[in-house]
Amino acid sequence: MSAEHDVAVLTDPADRRAAYEVFRRTLHRGPVPEADWESHGQSPDEHWLGVRGADGELVGSAFSFPSRLTLPGGGRIDAAAVSAVGVRADHTRAGRLTALMRTQLGAARDRGDAAAVLRASEAAIYGRFGYGIASRGNHVQVAARPQWRPDAPAPGRVRMLGATEAGKLLPELQDRLAGSRPGAITRNARWWRRGIDPGGESAAEYRGIAVHTGPDGDDGFVVWGVRDGKRFGEDEIVVHDLWAGSPSATSGLWRFLTGIDLSTGVLAWARPRDEDLDLMLADPRLHRIVGRGDDLWLRIVDVPAALGARSWGDGDPVVLRLHDPLFDDAGTWRLGPDGAVAAGGALPDLECGLESLAQAFLGDRPPSALVAAGRWTEHTAGAGATADALFAVPGPAPWSGTFF
Ligand SMILES: CC(C)(COP(=O)(O)OP(=O)(O)OC[C@H]1O[C@@H](n2cnc3c(N)ncnc32)[C@H](O)[C@@H]1OP(=O)(O)O)[C@@H](O)C(=O)NCCC(=O)NCCS
Repeated sequence: MSAEHDVAVLTDPADRRAAYEVFRRTLHRGPVPEADWESHGQSPDEHWLGVRGADGELVGSAFSFPSRLTLPGGGRIDAAAVSAVGVRADHTRAGRLTALMRTQLGAARDRGDAAAVLRASEAAIYGRFGYGIASRGNHVQVAARPQWRPDAPAPGRVRMLGATEAGKLLPELQDRLAGSRPGAITRNARWWRRGIDPGGESAAEYRGIAVHTGPDGDDGFVVWGVRDGKRFGEDEIVVHDLWAGSPSATSGLWRFLTGIDLSTGVLAWARPRDEDLDLMLADPRLHRIVGRGDDLWLRIVDVPAALGARSWGDGDPVVLRLHDPLFDDAGTWRLGPDGAVAAGGALPDLECGLESLAQAFLGDRPPSALVAAGRWTEHTAGAGATADALFAVPGPAPWSGTFF
């Protein structure tokens, strides 16, 4: 069932908090402790939306903070980083999320954002709004104290930091490293406060922070916790945040983590698909890929801005017709090595919705795979393979690296 719902922009801190509480309950979480909300819940750059039930109570929320998303080739676009999306269980399936999404994406477009990005709790929710899986990550486990191959990149220096020093150093370092990874997003001040010093109900948890320094300075960092094995020697190190800007930083940070005493090994979620630790280990089986998940969901909101900001590979041009499931026509575009130009009423070689464009846009999937799977329609034989050359740009695999 769908219905019209009034969506309000929430500016009053009490309304924002109520919206956040609604969201937490949709995740089956208890109320936010006062101290936690006070220290982490306010940031003027954030955009909060709420939707009410018949009695006027807030029953739905959606939030975003301003971010920069890196594209293939290193261009960056403004993107709304969306989170805290939820509708109270007794008001679901009546169109409230749809109303929130329309308003949120419209506001992003009005602000000049070229895209919106999120991490999805369930894969069935966001495709209908034009979001698609733009990057995927591997869940990995590495055994403690593995032997590293003698030809593995030599590590630099790893030093542990306290929260205050980390708060000064990591935001700038992550911003720099994010600039060379398609799919990476920048974070706002509140994200960093929570990421480094979570407070509230997480304050008592163990958290370690370390930075890697190579010949050219700081080039990686890690924030980690533990999964408690109840006895000394049985804890598992759990990576919360790990960025490496060089093979030496990858090698150095993972050597450091796997070498920490009193642990069985290291667990990390949604690691970049090109983090090839197995190639560096004497026994490659000690790096186990235990799962794979979707990482960043991307929704292009300004098609010409997004198409114009990424690099394109060499190859023959193709005409691509795009469909937007929520707003106006997303246009027909001639894509070539020099970029994208509006192609008016030209007959398309290929056709897809914005959801499926997202799957190729950062380089996660070649267009020919999306044609083969039926996600893109190929009107000109071989156009999918032609588009593969245009969408392929050398560089790291797409990865967002941020949970938000
Ligand atoms: C996901 C959620 C926000 C959906 O809210 P909602 O108000 O029920 O969504 P809508 O009524 O606008 O649904 C729009 C469409 O999406 C479908 N849909 C919504 N949530 C879905 C889900 N979790 N799985 C499958 N389909 C879903 C609806 O059936 C509807 O389909 P229709 O247009 O064919 O009728 C709500 O179920 C929720 O809060 N879930 C728990 C918290 C959560 O996962 N939040 C997202 C965090 S990333």
